[in-house]
Amino acid sequence: MTVHFIGAGPGAADLLTLRGRDLIAACPVCLYAGSLVPEGVLAHCPNRARIINTALLSLDDIMTEIVAAHREGKDIARLHSGDLSIWSAMGEQLRRLRALQIPYSITPGVPAFSAAAAALEAELTLPGVAQSVVLTRTPGRASAMPEGEKLASFAATGAVLAIHLSIHQLPRVIDELAPHYGADCPVAIVWRASWLDQRIIRATLGTLDAAIGTELERTALILVGKTLGSEQFAESRLYAADYDRRYRPLGLTPGFPEVS
Ligand SMILES: C[S@@+](CC[C@H](N)C(=O)[O-])C[C@H]1O[C@@H](n2cnc3c(N)ncnc32)[C@H](O)[C@@H]1O
Repeated sequence: MTVHFIGAGPGAADLLTLRGRDLIAACPVCLYAGSLVPEGVLAHCPNRARIINTALLSLDDIMTEIVAAHREGKDIARLHSGDLSIWSAMGEQLRRLRALQIPYSITPGVPAFSAAAAALEAELTLPGVAQSVVLTRTPGRASAMPEGEKLASFAATGAVLAIHLSIHQLPRVIDELAPHYGADCPVAIVWRASWLDQRIIRATLGTLDAAIGTELERTALILVGKTLGSEQFAESRLYAADYDRRYRPLGLTPGFPEVS
């Protein structure tokens, strides 16, 4: 018996890996994390699978379900939205599974920030403009931020920020970022990226407040950075016609391509 953790993607049911789909189809038990896992993904569960929404359960309750399935020798598909490596609460489940010596596997998924960037038709890392993306959040009721992980500290680097779990704190986010990026820095808010009712607002840090109005839906990403919508960037050297590289050697660099 194995607990298969599967990244269920950002919303669109077909943004799921083939491995994830096949595992879901093979598991007689499915535990899925609430409102963000789409029904289209659950449709891959076999007929008569036991399907449980864990948004209604505590960690202890979830472990009770897992241990019961383990005793019956039934594999579990454990679905979390997006990818499992960020804000999935997978870590605490893995720790308990290791203590109980219950086997598990991990299948990655498409994270929301990738779906949001696709919706914006944006490469977040453009040569000479920004080469780092910070996936972060503001503090929540259940999650304090570690000392040092301040929006202002990340902003001071000029990196692109993908700010999760924070749309309800938008005025505070703008106030903290504007001194570093400037009022003309592009911002995009993407609600429910990849869902059928996806919405996008593009603005600048200076105009966002007015552009956004009253929006109640909380499943949103705030993306901030100079690469959003920029046409002022260098082309990558990798594809330059005169760039000597391992896979397109021009014989211009002594000792190349032997030297990596
Ligand atoms: C608990 S985190 C889950 C993140 C997820 N594990 C991932 O890989 O993207 C939930 C937050 O992710 C963001 N999010 C998740 N799905 C989204 C979507 N389809 N569109 C926009 N933001 C999304 C929102 O900021 C939301 O508050």
